[in-house]
Parts: sequence; C-alpha cells; structure tokens
Amino acid sequence: MKNYNQPNKKGEFGLFGGRYVPQQLTTRLAEIEKAYLELRNNPSFQKELQFLYKNYVGRPSLLYKADRLTEYCGGAKIYLKREDLNHTGAHKLNNTVGQALLARKLGKKKLIAETGAGQHGVAVATVTALMGMQCDIYMGKRDIINQKMNVYRMKLLGAKVVEVSEGQSTLKDAIDVALKNFITEENSYYMIGSVVGPHPYPMIVRDFQKIVGNEVKSQIKKQEGILPDYLVACIGGGSNAMGLFYEFIKDKEVKLVGVEPAGLGEKTDRHGLALMRGKPGIIHGFKCRVLQNKSGEIGESYSAASGLDYPGVGPEPSFLVETKRLEVVGVTDSEAVKAFCDLSRLEGIIPALESAHAISYAMKLAQRLKKEQVIVVNLSGRGDKDVENVFENLII
Ligand SMILES: Cc1ncc(COP(=O)(O)O)c(C=O)c1O
Repeated sequence: MKNYNQPNKKGEFGLFGGRYVPQQLTTRLAEIEKAYLELRNNPSFQKELQFLYKNYVGRPSLLYKADRLTEYCGGAKIYLKREDLNHTGAHKLNNTVGQALLARKLGKKKLIAETGAGQHGVAVATVTALMGMQCDIYMGKRDIINQKMNVYRMKLLGAKVVEVSEGQSTLKDAIDVALKNFITEENSYYMIGSVVGPHPYPMIVRDFQKIVGNEVKSQIKKQEGILPDYLVACIGGGSNAMGLFYEFIKDKEVKLVGVEPAGLGEKTDRHGLALMRGKPGIIHGFKCRVLQNKSGEIGESYSAASGLDYPGVGPEPSFLVETKRLEVVGVTDSEAVKAFCDLSRLEGIIPALESAHAISYAMKLAQRLKKEQVIVVNLSGRGDKDVENVFENLII
C-alpha cells in the first residue's frame, strides 16, 4: 500500500466501484466529476472549504483521551475522535459543506438526498439553509419512526422530507427512490451521504471526510508522540471509517478495524455484515461487497442503528478488505446498546448508536492490548437521536 492512489480514472477500486447506471445518469455524473476535478485543486475553493470547516462545522474536532473508559477496560489507552461535537452532531456535515460548494459551482439550487439515521438528512438540510437552496430528502418509513427528532430538525431547517414505504422502508429503498427522482429532475444535484454510489461519489465523499484522519495524525503525535496502534470505526456505507483511515493507509504499522452491525447475531440472518458476508455485486450503480440471497438478488439488511442498516458498503472499504489492509468485525445490537450506556456513564458522552458499535469493539480490544498501546475510535455522532429508541425499545 506504499503508493496508494485509488480510485483509477474509471472510479474503480480494484474489483469494486465504477459506474453502472442508465445513460441519462452517466452524463450527469460525468458533469459532476469534471466540476469536482477542477474544483478540488482550486485554491479559492480550498480556502472556502477550510473556512467553513473551521467557522461553521467547528473543526478541528477534539481528540479526547477517555481515561475512565480506559481504566474500566484495564488495557490500552482509548482516544475518542469527537466528530459528535461538530455542528449538527456528526461527521456528516464535513461532506455536505463540501458538496454544497460543488452544487453551487454547477449552478444547482435544488438538492436531492437520502437519509437513514437522519444525520445526513439534517446535514443536507443545514447546508441548504446556509446556501439558500431547496431540498427533498427521501427517508424510509421505518427510519422516520425510529429517528423522529431528526425528522423534526430537517423540517425546521426548511427541507421537504419524503416518506418512502417501498421494500423494507429503510435506507436502501430511500436511495432507490431518490436516484429515480434525481434522473427526472434535471436541474437537481444528488447529495449522497456516504462513500457509496456510482463514480465519482465514493471519491468525493472520502475526500471531504479525510480531514478527520488528517487531524488525528497531528493530534496523536502531539499527545502521545507516536502513531496509534489501532484505528476503529463503525461501517455503514463507510464514510466516517474512510475519513479516519485514509491518511493512515500507507502507515502499515497502524491497524485499521471496521465494525459492522451484527444486528441480532452473526448466526442469524438479521444483520448488516456486508463486508463480512457479502459477495461482489452491484447495488445503486456501483460494485461492492453486498448481501445477496441464494439466487443472487440483493439481500435484506438489519441493524437497530438505522445509519448502519444497508446491504451494501462503499467500494473503497470493500477493496481494503479484499487486499487485507482492513480487518472487519461484527458487533450486535445488544453489545452496542451496552457500550452506549457504558460510555454515557463512564465519560458523560452519549454516543450515536452507530458509533456505539465502534466503542463496543474498542472496549473489547483494549482489554487484550498492553497499557502503553493506543486505540483511536471515531465517535462519529452524538446519541440524542437514539435516546428515546434505546429507552423505549432496546434496553433489556
Ligand atoms: C452518527 C453516524 N455514524 C455512522 C453512520 C454510518 O455511515 P458511514 O458508514 O457512512 O459513516 C451514520 C449514518 O447515518 C451516522 O449517523
């Protein structure tokens, strides 16, 4: 991984990625790709992006040494990258401020987006207000019920939330409908929320999220004088994970661990283990490891954390697993709920249920490691949106 330079010009990460879409979309995506490639090296664009990261998102986010959590686990030091402290409470805004500048450059005033946990939807609605644009946000009916507070926030910010009741009424179905509407609404910009979708989205979203790992590298060098032994992040589509990992891919002494949702258990069929159990296939216009049934159709996914409930996963995490640079593990709903409560009580930090998957694994890992070793966990979001669901439905 010395000269890591992914994707290639066709948007392929080895076997994965690419652009498998109808002709009308190819032209629109090529237009977005061209504009992005021009913009990303433009100093005034970079200046505006850095200005927004600092003054609107609130970056750099803290790298916090969780002493009581570390002591409780009795092993390696656990650091939390506090993406939950960003404006709107998650890593998602890093991406939407960048894509909003891109949409503006393309002259688009209408944004179309999908959301699962509602965090990306809130981040889209926020930049819509910031830039004086308009947006339609597609959300599965099941997620609307589980993530009520984020639905209220999106509406307050001026977004139209469109309920999707097709299929399982979750993120996959919301993306299906959002993409269809993007095709018919020619003057819109599709703002994807993770490192998924057809080229160039996985590259664009990763580029806007890589600030997370860039900051961690200099923060941990200052605080510990070394690189971390492990980086741990939950994986839905893979954007908070790629954001944290990207800067460290070439540092082979740093181990990368992605945590997937094992839902009701790895031995059941109610999980979202796309990297661990998926096979190469196409979903939403790109190739990745994707859950499939016996006849090769897209399988159903499940997680109590709406933001992890997706049968596919980004092409770049798929590639990193295939090339053995990234290790993947599963954490169940109930293990995540336990970590949700542990972090709240030990550190006074209520994590998003998605992030609690990463916390849960980091706690197990810390116990196996030596006291001088260092784990950095991406605390991708805060848990306000999950408090009601955890209390009413998930705590046993
Ligand atoms: C707080 C939080 N973390 C993680 C995720 C998973 O997405 P990704 O894998 O793209 O980071 C989500 C998705 O909604 C989220 O809201």
